[in-house]
Amino acid sequence: MDVVRTVADLRRRLPLDAGPRGSCALVPTMGNLHEGHLDLVRVAKARGGRVAVSIFVNPLQFAPSEDFDRYPRTFEADLEKLGALGVDVVYAPTVAEMYPEPQTVRVVPPPALTDILEGAVRPGFFTGVATVVAKLFLMVRPAVAVFGKKDYQQLRVVEAMVRQLSMGVEIVGVETARADDGLALSSRNGYLTAAERAEAAALRRSLVSAAASLRAGESIGGVEADAAGALTGRGWHVDYVAVRRRSDLAEPQPGDPLVIVAAAKLGATRLIDNIEV
Ligand code: PAF
Repeated sequence: MDVVRTVADLRRRLPLDAGPRGSCALVPTMGNLHEGHLDLVRVAKARGGRVAVSIFVNPLQFAPSEDFDRYPRTFEADLEKLGALGVDVVYAPTVAEMYPEPQTVRVVPPPALTDILEGAVRPGFFTGVATVVAKLFLMVRPAVAVFGKKDYQQLRVVEAMVRQLSMGVEIVGVETARADDGLALSSRNGYLTAAERAEAAALRRSLVSAAASLRAGESIGGVEADAAGALTGRGWHVDYVAVRRRSDLAEPQPGDPLVIVAAAKLGATRLIDNIEV
């Protein structure tokens, strides 16, 4: 497995496979890899071409009040896991390599997607994500890129970017990996105290029960209010529980395939999850 730190080195190894774009699959990550990330790598491997994984904690997607400095960095352990899965290239640029000058050219995703839900709570977040993902695509030139469905809105933002900028990268979304109690795997789970970790699975349970209520014919407003109320009653600080259209997270129209998305804080840790209905 090659571990590459610079764009110049990356270019020397490109194309990562035969053909103008190669048939390389990229898994973009911020490191601190858990089974959820490894599932993405397995999906990338199953495509049959070469696999690149990027590890880059992207300052552009963290607000000054957020956890950029304390975001867990476990590079050596990450490399071991990726090596064991047969990854071909790990691209791990420094911040200076990714942003050699102030990144004033940015990719601004559609406001209809970014003014809502995560974007409303974390202004600028999706511009930071779209900009770094666009840069990674230009640097690695993958044919395919694999993202987790836990970050449902991020997946929709990346899909819109690729479509509207004709990037020609196939975007693959992968089901969320979960702990035995249903908690979605996330690097931020490591911030939870033991008591919070025991409580954290309530987020998933509330979504499962909200999905059942929707299927049973309860109104969208009622389902959202019940789920948010139940979590608040257990001590969570709820940012949103929202029933949305799967394709673009807009308010649903009758007949739309639905997803319920939720974000809530348990103590100091903010967790997100979703369930397709
Ligand atoms: O989901 C993540 O880990 C990040 O948002 C991503 C896609 C790697 C961009 O920094």
